[in-house]
Amino acid sequence: MATSSTQAIPEAAAIPQHVAIIMDGNGRWATRRHLPRTAGHAKGVQAVRRVVEACGRRGVRYLTLFAFSSENWRRPAEEVSLLMRLFMQALEREVDKLQEQGVRLHVIGDLSAFEPRLQTLIHEAQERTRHNDRLHLSVAANYGGRWDILQATRALLTAEPELAARPQDLDEARLARHLSMAWAPEPDLFIRTGGEQRISNFLIWQLAYTELFFTDAFWPDFGAAQLDEAIAWYQGRERRFGRTSEQLRAAR
Ligand code: FPP
Repeated sequence: MATSSTQAIPEAAAIPQHVAIIMDGNGRWATRRHLPRTAGHAKGVQAVRRVVEACGRRGVRYLTLFAFSSENWRRPAEEVSLLMRLFMQALEREVDKLQEQGVRLHVIGDLSAFEPRLQTLIHEAQERTRHNDRLHLSVAANYGGRWDILQATRALLTAEPELAARPQDLDEARLARHLSMAWAPEPDLFIRTGGEQRISNFLIWQLAYTELFFTDAFWPDFGAAQLDEAIAWYQGRERRFGRTSEQLRAAR
């Protein structure tokens, strides 16, 4: 029998434990106001602050934000460098606030491509917040879902080289242990702002059973009210994980 590693049925109408967000629409928010695209990213940082606070207050335990994809290097050089600067500023200025709010910061992705100063700031911020447990904030930077599966495969074969000769012993759980977010439950609710309806190589393995919410709101306009709207929509969904509605009713 083929089995999936995604098994548990979360309690209906509960607050999602793990929310994952693609923060899209910063550029269009700015262009509509005749501002440079970079102004939209600066506003986007304020939205990150609002959503981290709101998730903490609502009891969300894991919040994962797609800040910079493996493909975003293709953007104009000045936009990439502004994004790096914003990221560094946020790491320098916001860590005290994360501490106050009991937020533990994780940065996931191929960090080796970032300049050494940024890598150091990331390392320090993760270290300083490592004892916090109220909300786990993961920022995906130079991240891609396909990269994650590849790096997990490489790590698995390095840890267990004998598997190469016995591929039939490989199962989902064994590979999943090496994914970047192996320590977190899979996302319950995915949100993408900005009107596009795509996963864009985000957590492609982990989103297999996630409820997908798309909104036209641009990321700089996103805040507690929009988060509540997404959570209310999520609470109206029936998550079956391959089972029938009857089976779910019998299990309750
Ligand atoms: C997508 O909008 C947004 C990004 C590629 C960057 C997101 C970055 C931030 C919100 C700021 C830094 C983040 C942290 C965690 C401090 P877009 O530029 O693709 O918008 P568009 O589709 O309208 O062009």
